[in-house]
Amino acid sequence: MRVVVSGAAGFIGSHLCDRLLADGQEVIGLDNLSTGRAENLRHLQDCAEFRFFRHDICDPFQADGRIDVVYNLACPASPRDYLEAPLETLAACSQGTRNMLELAICHRATFFQASTSEAYGDALVRPQHETYWGNVNPIGPRSVYDEGKRYAEALTMAYHRERGADTRIARLFNVYGPRMKRGDGRVLPAFLDQALRAVPLTVFGHGSQTRSFCYVSDIVEGIVRLAASDEATPVNLGGPDEITVLELAKVVQSVAGVDCGVTHLELPQDDPNRRQPDIAKARRLLGWEPQVELRHGVRLMLASYVK
Ligand SMILES: NC(=O)c1ccc[n+]([C@@H]2O[C@H](COP(=O)([O-])OP(=O)(O)OC[C@H]3O[C@@H](n4cnc5c(N)ncnc54)[C@H](O)[C@@H]3O)[C@@H](O)[C@H]2O)c1
Repeated sequence: MRVVVSGAAGFIGSHLCDRLLADGQEVIGLDNLSTGRAENLRHLQDCAEFRFFRHDICDPFQADGRIDVVYNLACPASPRDYLEAPLETLAACSQGTRNMLELAICHRATFFQASTSEAYGDALVRPQHETYWGNVNPIGPRSVYDEGKRYAEALTMAYHRERGADTRIARLFNVYGPRMKRGDGRVLPAFLDQALRAVPLTVFGHGSQTRSFCYVSDIVEGIVRLAASDEATPVNLGGPDEITVLELAKVVQSVAGVDCGVTHLELPQDDPNRRQPDIAKARRLLGWEPQVELRHGVRLMLASYVK
């Protein structure tokens, strides 16, 4: 197999490259290094099966030779990153996704789109099943990401229907693990960073809002299984267990062995209240189930920050 991974220098993209290389595949990594880091790929610099191109997917990309799968992960993903680069985020989701779809069409390759639980917005149902259409504010600040990803899904399905593209869409829920930037603003890296500095953990709102976390190796396993399946409609990939942000703060403090308390800040606009995937479809179609328990995953992530 010879594959393209866009967003290769990012958190999930770099782990996906490692996994595909370990499976004996040849990997072409693309990234414009806007939110990702070259150091995430440094260990691959002498790997003959890996080639990296600093490339913005908003420009077309041509590849020599055969391509079997195009994994499209390139997009700012943390709220801090996409709120700082709203137009670039919309461009990556629209023109960028289109360029990656064209690359896949050109090589008759499978196209994989990394979508998100944010496609459900501030969901009015729980758990969120793939048939739920969501509750998204189309003009709020977060819409650049939520609506951008919804557009990318629409584009992917249109290429599937109109151009016969062989496509997959995964809706990922709160992935965590090593290589997440300590300062990227997402809740787990933020909590771990604060716990390591022994300062109070910042909780937005009352902390009763829930998230469902999934360790990165489990997500990568789900991505690989979905790409190998023939399912064109979206599939949720995430941890099925909900936890409140306040409970998460307790888990982090207990794993880090600190008791630094929490401080509360105002909840950001359109912050989703409940987030919990229904993963019955992934279980049934892919035989997929997350394996890494939250406390263990947090311990591994903490260890990567203190190395
Ligand atoms: N991490 C999560 O919890 C999560 C949840 C749902 C969906 N996702 C999706 O998974 C993908 C990866 O997320 P991540 O957490 O690894 O984020 P990340 O920011 O670490 O990785 C994204 C990568 O894409 C690159 N990139 C951004 N715009 C680009 C462009 N125009 N051209 C080329 N490269 C570009 C960045 O430099 C970065 O390396 C994203 O598409 C994101 O929407 C992530």
